[in-house]
Amino acid sequence: MQDQYERKIEYVRISLTDRCNLRCRYCMPEEGVSKMRHEDILTFAEILRIVRGLSALGVKKVRLTGGEPLVRRNITELIHEIRQVPGIEQVVLTTNGVLLPELGQDLIKAGLTGLNISLDTLNPDTFAEITRRPLFARVQAGLEKVMSLGLTNIKFNCVPIYEVNDAEIPALAALARDYPVKVRFIELMPIGCAYEVGYRGVPMDEVRARLEKAYGSLHPVGKKADRLQGPAEYYKVAGFAGQVGFIDAMEHKFCSSCNRVRLTAEGFLKLCLNQKNGLDLRQLLRSGISDENLKLALRQAIYRKPAEHLFTDHFNTARDSRAMYQVGG
Ligand code: GTP
Ligand code: 5AD
Ligand code: SF4
Repeated sequence: MQDQYERKIEYVRISLTDRCNLRCRYCMPEEGVSKMRHEDILTFAEILRIVRGLSALGVKKVRLTGGEPLVRRNITELIHEIRQVPGIEQVVLTTNGVLLPELGQDLIKAGLTGLNISLDTLNPDTFAEITRRPLFARVQAGLEKVMSLGLTNIKFNCVPIYEVNDAEIPALAALARDYPVKVRFIELMPIGCAYEVGYRGVPMDEVRARLEKAYGSLHPVGKKADRLQGPAEYYKVAGFAGQVGFIDAMEHKFCSSCNRVRLTAEGFLKLCLNQKNGLDLRQLLRSGISDENLKLALRQAIYRKPAEHLFTDHFNTARDSRAMYQVGG
């Protein structure tokens, strides 16, 4: 379906939990977070009802996020069920990779069609510094596992931060030189703990320049190579098996072609990453709404999707500055 600005909405990001087994400094405080109560989180049956409603309106891609989605029990069953929903073409997952050694194989067996893996560094000490957990070896084992299982749609997410991991920008991009994967650099966004901890994100123009210096020209890949893709812009580099990408989050560039809505773990349909407006689907589901009326409510809410995010509009009361783990990234 189309929203009020004639954008086609075909992609839903579903957060399965606000819990995480890491404590990335730009996202969560050391002491963790006030966890949602178990009964406040949507059940798999409720998630599936919403996915069916959305697919009837034209949604074709489901991305599971968190927190860390792999800490939610029996996630492979949910993936299997979502894959059966008519109209859903892709079921993908954004993970920090820590649980991939145990779960990688079952995820692929369940029908997962792609993985986005957070990878801010290749250095175990820097990993422990950013995430406050010494678990780099597990992520590395997880990567080896999924690559060996033949999954082709793998993307890495790196948030470059001055004096933390910025010296590794060329080395991280080299993963796309050596393997048929996409390495995406994300601009640090002013949400979560990003600025409190004193991190300064490297602007994407600078990341681009550093990569050109190391590897030569970057050649843009046509924007609509994949109509279901997110906000990243991709580039080819001579001699690279894969591609590099940039998520220039603070710019409004991609709002005009935004194709997605979000569902928080508590069942709130969010229409934009950092705005509060949306629809409390959990309340509707738990008060016995029919499938027909659910579809109608979804249609009305999606129609009202706002024009663009409010990252630079500091005093707007519609702004939602909660962290990625709370809103699903
Ligand atoms: P695919 O194209 O499906 O791989 O999706 P993606 O890149 O959106 O997924 P991923 O979960 O890996 O997100 C990467 C980064 O993009 C995260 O930091 C997200 O918060 C950010 N992001 C995703 N969607 C949006 C959006 O609509 N607006 C903004 N500003 N950032 C977004
Ligand atoms: N700014 C940019 N990216 C962030 N992520 C989490 N918090 C932020 C932030 N404040 C990233 C993670 C992960 C992706 C889903 O979101 O690094 O790769
Ligand atoms: Fe966990 Fe992702 Fe937040 Fe890191 S950025 S603490 S991996 S939810």
